[in-house]
Amino acid sequence: MKILLTAEQIAEMVGYLGARLSDDYRGKNPLLIGCLKGCVVFLADLVRVITVPHAIDFVRTSTYGKRQVTSGVVRAELFDVDVRGRHVVIVEDIVDTGLTLGYLTEALTKQEPLSLKICALLVKPGAYRAPVAIDYKGFDIPDDFVVGYGLDWGERYRYLPYVAVVDEQDD
Ligand code: IMP
Ligand code: MG
Repeated sequence: MKILLTAEQIAEMVGYLGARLSDDYRGKNPLLIGCLKGCVVFLADLVRVITVPHAIDFVRTSTYGKRQVTSGVVRAELFDVDVRGRHVVIVEDIVDTGLTLGYLTEALTKQEPLSLKICALLVKPGAYRAPVAIDYKGFDIPDDFVVGYGLDWGERYRYLPYVAVVDEQDD
């Protein structure tokens, strides 16, 4: 496994994103919606650097398929998330094809939020083909499969404090 982003680099980026969100959402009491499960570490750090009042909620998304293979079919459980009349920020750990975000954006837009923006810590090159704009973007990363800081490989490695690239020997 090779470290791609250290805990220090991540913390600095989270601080930067949190500062931007704090500036942009002053007085707006935004609703941050995290996409389970990968978002949990990022969201937990992000909310502690945002200095304006806000609320959090969660949705759960998955693409059918195992391990590193995505089938392209997105499934989302919206639980009882209610975004009507709220300023919403979707918080994602990583954007790969952008299919998940495209699906979620469409589903939440139907509920008529006041505004809808996207915050993603990691963005892969393929995301540029997606129909969604990432308003608050952390790192552009290469098209490798990464783990840690909430991201898993078959439910492994979510707990790592850094982001690393998995290789064959890790299986
Ligand atoms: P998308 O719909 O292709 O953008 O994929 C988004 C989801 O796939 C992310 O929310 C992750 O759960 C998962 N994913 C994509 N790339 C990686 C990766 O490199 N490591 C771990 N999970 C990934
Ligand atoms: Mg995810």
